Amino acid sequence: MTIVFIHLRMDVQGYSNSKMAATGATTFSVASVSYGSQGSKSKSLNFRFNSPNYLKSFSGLKAAGSVRCESEASFFGQDSGAALRASVAVRAEKQNKEGLERCFQPQASFKVAILGAAGGIGQPLSLLIKMSPLVSALHLYDIANVKGVAADLSHCNTPSQVLDFTGQAELGNSLKGVDVVVIPAGVPRKPGMTRDDLFNINASIVKTLIEAVADNCPDAFIHIISNPVNSTVPIAAEILKQKGVYNPKKLFGVTTLDVVRANTFVAQKKNLKLIDVDVPVIGGHAGITILPLLSKTRPSVSFTDKEVEDLIVRIQNAGTEVVEAKAGAGSATLSMAYAAARFVESSLRALDGDSDVYECSYVQSELTDLPFFASRIKIGKEGVEAIISSDLQGLTEYETKALDALKPELKSSIEKGVTFAQKKETPASV
Ligand SMILES: NC(=O)c1ccc[n+]([C@@H]2O[C@H](COP(=O)([O-])OP(=O)(O)OC[C@H]3O[C@@H](n4cnc5c(N)ncnc54)[C@H](O)[C@@H]3O)[C@@H](O)[C@H]2O)c1
Repeated sequence: MTIVFIHLRMDVQGYSNSKMAATGATTFSVASVSYGSQGSKSKSLNFRFNSPNYLKSFSGLKAAGSVRCESEASFFGQDSGAALRASVAVRAEKQNKEGLERCFQPQASFKVAILGAAGGIGQPLSLLIKMSPLVSALHLYDIANVKGVAADLSHCNTPSQVLDFTGQAELGNSLKGVDVVVIPAGVPRKPGMTRDDLFNINASIVKTLIEAVADNCPDAFIHIISNPVNSTVPIAAEILKQKGVYNPKKLFGVTTLDVVRANTFVAQKKNLKLIDVDVPVIGGHAGITILPLLSKTRPSVSFTDKEVEDLIVRIQNAGTEVVEAKAGAGSATLSMAYAAARFVESSLRALDGDSDVYECSYVQSELTDLPFFASRIKIGKEGVEAIISSDLQGLTEYETKALDALKPELKSSIEKGVTFAQKKETPASV
């Protein structure tokens, strides 16, 4: 079986359908955000992509030569896959118009750093990013030896160069010139722990890493995976402010796994075609702060009260489900790597000029009275371009109550992070 990263039947109908799934209804209303909001519309692209010759030399997952496609979706799911295919196809079409080449070679151009690359999430995430045709350099950093991971990955014949950086002394170099920094460094949960139990260790790790990001690549997109995300993102914001380089548009808490889980569980429960399902997840990334908006599920589907209750509880506890199944050997790593890779891919597409990129993420927000909030956002070349407010309109009674209930916990997690970051370090006694 040939698995291809980019499928060749550039079916316009298929593309626009999947974009509708990704972007929702035809028109979004957009919250006013301090850094400039814009109205946005979902759209379908009208292009024809007649000759598979363009992609003959593509060197992503497939060997060169004839390409057969047996899958509609890319590794990152239909939504992202279709959009990535479209992004590549648009460039291919441009090349064709300009008569430059018959053979299309993707323009790998972005540098991505993964901090914590030797870990349970870091390793599979590195592999998935190594597969991206949009990446030219992959910087792997860890306090543990990451040389072996880099050597291993470097044998994959995909375009990006893999460089390894081990230990604090190499942290700065791992970040120079980087476009996207992904941070899965830290300790994972063990059975019986909440994400907040990780605070004491992971808060310091994130602080140190963000200080280095501020010094070496302040313009990069920053993706925070380390838990508790509800607090580590506010910590990162404070550190960046202290360094005078905070750009709220470029700091993202990665909550994609909640969306991935919601899509999977809803599709299973309602017997839907998995690749069509899109459930926005708002709030935060821990327990009851994770609020899947089932009433906004696309395609539109109705749930009984019992189904709503069961699905929401399962989505909120899905991380714990994995922690318990792993019985002390860590938390979600493979599904998390998949979700984080999807978010990286979306960011790279946005950086590459795709003007139609939507994801859920935990960001600085004015959507509620909380300073940070997860919702669907539009990502552009400069980061968060718009925060989508329409998902919060017309909530069910259950969702409205759940939204009210999550706010105090999320508020306190945000404050805990801010307080930690603002704490003056006591000078060591002599
Ligand atoms: N956002 C999410 O949805 C989500 C989901 C699952 C896990 N997580 C979180 O991701 C984090 C990592 O999980 P994991 O399973 O990969 O853990 P892991 O222990 O397998 O890997 C963590 C890696 O971080 C490295 N590390 C520790 N301190 C570091 C530092 N100061 N600088 C650089 N690297 C450092 C370790 O050496 C290790 O290689 C945890 O905090 C976990 O809670 C988040």
